[in-house]
Amino acid sequence: MSKLFDDQKNYKNLVNGQWTSSINHNYIQISSPVDGSFVGNVPSMSQSEVDEVIQFSKESFQSWSRVPIYEKAAILYKAAAILEVRANEIAEILVMEIAKDRKSAISEVKRTVDFLRYTADVGKNMEGVALNGENFPGGSKNKISYVKRVPLGTVLSISPFNYPINLSASKVAPALIGGNTVILKPPTQGAISALHLVEALQDAGLPKGVLQTVTGKGSEIGDYIVTHSGVDFINFTGSTEIGKHLSKLANMTPLLLELGGKDAAIILEDADLPFTASNIVDGAFSYSGQRCTAVKRILTTDEVAEKLIPLLKEKIEKLPVGDPRDEVIITPLIDQKAADLAKFLIDDAISKGAVAITGNRIEGTTVYPTLLDGVTEEMEIAWQEPFSPILPIIRVKDKDDAIRIANNSEYGLQSSVFTQDINKAFYIADRLEVGTVQINNKTERGPDHFPFMGVKSSGMGTQGVRYSIDSMTRPKAIVVNLRE
Ligand code: NAP
Ligand code: G3H
Repeated sequence: MSKLFDDQKNYKNLVNGQWTSSINHNYIQISSPVDGSFVGNVPSMSQSEVDEVIQFSKESFQSWSRVPIYEKAAILYKAAAILEVRANEIAEILVMEIAKDRKSAISEVKRTVDFLRYTADVGKNMEGVALNGENFPGGSKNKISYVKRVPLGTVLSISPFNYPINLSASKVAPALIGGNTVILKPPTQGAISALHLVEALQDAGLPKGVLQTVTGKGSEIGDYIVTHSGVDFINFTGSTEIGKHLSKLANMTPLLLELGGKDAAIILEDADLPFTASNIVDGAFSYSGQRCTAVKRILTTDEVAEKLIPLLKEKIEKLPVGDPRDEVIITPLIDQKAADLAKFLIDDAISKGAVAITGNRIEGTTVYPTLLDGVTEEMEIAWQEPFSPILPIIRVKDKDDAIRIANNSEYGLQSSVFTQDINKAFYIADRLEVGTVQINNKTERGPDHFPFMGVKSSGMGTQGVRYSIDSMTRPKAIVVNLRE
C-alpha cells in the first residue's frame, strides 16, 4: 500500500514530514476527464490545518536556510533520480488525471527530472560577489561589500492543471535551493500527479516541514492561504482572472505571476511555408491547445494566407484525436466548461462571418482541431484565450498592421515571427509588447533555463531556473570597513 493514500484511494497531504490524512474527512473526488473513471480523492483542507502547515514551515525555515547549498543540491539530484525511475508510472497518472496524451505526459515528467538536476547545478554555482568601495566617487578601498543571496522565508507555490508536475517543480525546486521552505497548493484537477512529485522530493531526504502540501479548491481555501501573514512570497501560474485577484489580495506580499496568453504568429511573404505550417500546427494543437504558450492566432496577409491554408488544413486533418492512452494529439478537454467556451468562441466567430476551414466539431468534451479563416477584430476569438484546439487566422494589410493587432491584446506572453529576412524579423520583434519573441519557431516556454515572462495581463516577474532562484531570494550585503 502506498503511503500517499489509503485503501479507499483517499490521498494524504505532506505535513511536517508525514503523509497525513484529512482530519475532517472532507474529500474532493477526482474523476478522469478521459472517461469519468475514479482517480482518487484529495483532501479539502481546513483553515486550521493550513495554519499548522504554515507554522511548521516557519519552524523548518530556521534550519533549512542554514543547510549548505551542496547538501540541498544533493537532495534535488536524488529526487531527480527517483522521479526518473518512476517516470512512466507517474505519467500514467497524468494521462488519466488531466487527459494529457501519453507521449506528452512522459515528456513532462522527464523534463522535470532535467529541471531538478539543472536547478541543483545552478544552485551550486551561485557565488556571492565582493564589491570594491573605491570604484564609486568618494568611496574607499577600505570598504568592501560582500553581497550574497538569501531566502525570503515561506514560499507559497500555486500551480495550474495543465502542467501539474512540471509547473509545480519549476517553483518548488528553485525556492528550495534558494533556502526557502515551500508550501505547494496544486491544482485540484492535477493534485494527485503533483503529490507524486512531492513524494519523490520527500523520499530524496528533505527534512520535515521543508516542503508541504495543501490541497483543496482554490475558490475555498485559496484566499485564506494567500492572505496568511505567514506567507512571504507567492509564486503563481494560472489564469489571468485568478492572478489579478491574487495580486489585489496579496497586500505587499511579493508575487511572481505567470498568466494567460494570446500568442500571435506573424507570417511574412518570404517565410518557408511548409516548415511554418508544421511548426504552427505543433504549437497550436499539442495537448489540445491547453498551453499558455500555444499559438493562439495567425496574423498574415491575403497572399500568404492563400498558400498557407491548404498546408495547415492537410496537417490539422491528420492530427489523431481520441483517448490519451493511445497515440493521439487531441484529447478530451479538462472539463465541460472548457468545451462550452470553445463552442461559444467558434459559434461567435462563424455567426460574424468567419469560415471553418476544418474542425468545428465537438463530441462531449473533445473539440476537433479547428482552423478559422476570415477572423476579424469584432470576434471574441480574436482576443480571448480559448485554451482549446482553435486556431484563428486574421488577415492583415502588412507587417505594421500585424504589429498593431498583436499589440492590441490585453496579453503579452510571447509571439512568433516567421521570415527569412533578419532585418524584418528584428523590426517586428522590437515592436511587439511581449516577454519573448521567437524568430522562426512556435511560441514555447523551454528550454527551462531561458527567462520566461509575460507583460501586461500575462504576468509579472520572471521564471527560468536562474531567474526563479533570483525571484525567490534577495540580495543581502555585509560591508567590511577596514582600518589602516
Ligand atoms: P486557474 O483556474 O487560474 O488555477 C490555477 C491555480 O490557482 C489552481 O491551483 C487553482 O486551484 C488555484 N486557485 C484558484 N482560485 C484561487 C484562489 N482564490 N486563491 C489561490 N489559488 C487559487 O488556472 P488553470 O485553469 O489551472 O490553468 C489554465 C490557465 O493558466 C490558462 O489561462 C493558462 O494560460 C494559464 N497558464 C499560464 C502559464 C504561464 O506560465 N504563463 C502556464 C500554465 C498555465 P483549483 O484548481 O483548486 O481551482
Ligand atoms: O501552459 C503554459 C506553459 O508554461 C507552457 O509551457 O511552452 O513548454 O508547453 P510549454
